[in-house]
Amino acid sequence: MQIYKAKDYQDMSRKAANIISAQVILKPDCVLGLATGSSPVGTYQQLIEWYKKGDLDFSRVTSINLDEYRGLPGDNDQSYRYFMNHNLFDHVNIRKECTYVPDGLEPDPQKACAAYEEIIRKSGGVDLQLLGLGHNGHIGFNEPADSFPKETHCVDLTESTIEANKRFFASIDDVPRQAYTMGIGTIMSAKKILIIVSGADKAEILNKVINGPITPQVPASILQLHPDVTVVADEAALSAVTC
Ligand code: GLP
Repeated sequence: MQIYKAKDYQDMSRKAANIISAQVILKPDCVLGLATGSSPVGTYQQLIEWYKKGDLDFSRVTSINLDEYRGLPGDNDQSYRYFMNHNLFDHVNIRKECTYVPDGLEPDPQKACAAYEEIIRKSGGVDLQLLGLGHNGHIGFNEPADSFPKETHCVDLTESTIEANKRFFASIDDVPRQAYTMGIGTIMSAKKILIIVSGADKAEILNKVINGPITPQVPASILQLHPDVTVVADEAALSAVTC
């Protein structure tokens, strides 16, 4: 694992955006695996800024997002499709038809997940997967479990994730209880992985991810086995990392 220490959230965002732009410049028709949550917002803002300056071109990029709430339509302002349009896609020249997010409105989980795996397969695979980190070590919506789920699947969100994500909804009752997410196997098959982590509240879990045992109880710990992982984290998030 390559670990970069950033000063703060803004510095983390700029460093992460640099890595993503390098990918887009080196391979203009690359497949970017993208993430939602508060961690990547600053990264997307930086990418938009560079795009507007004329330094980046997304016209040949394909994007495949990690996850989506089950039951939310793309025009619901809490859906991850809406988040991506609003925070990135509407502001750069990526072709919308080349941006993929699981279909939250597909009621049949098997159908939704198989269709998504097919999209990933047909794209030729993800070149660079961006990840945030949940407080319980989840990546995408792969919650702590007894085993590592392989492919895109439907998950029941844990109480801790529902609690953490309620800040985006009018009330906790509005937070969907299920989501479609890439599996750990899907994530691990990306050629490169970039995980961004900010804030003291993620310090302990980040230390477990980097130095702890590889266990499905800390889903992101599996990243220790990936050959090309870059961690960009701010000082606060790295404050409990022992080496
Ligand atoms: C959500 C998302 C994850 C995200 C994580 C952390 O539940 N499904 O993809 O990485 O939570 O979010 P944040 O960056 O807001 O802390």
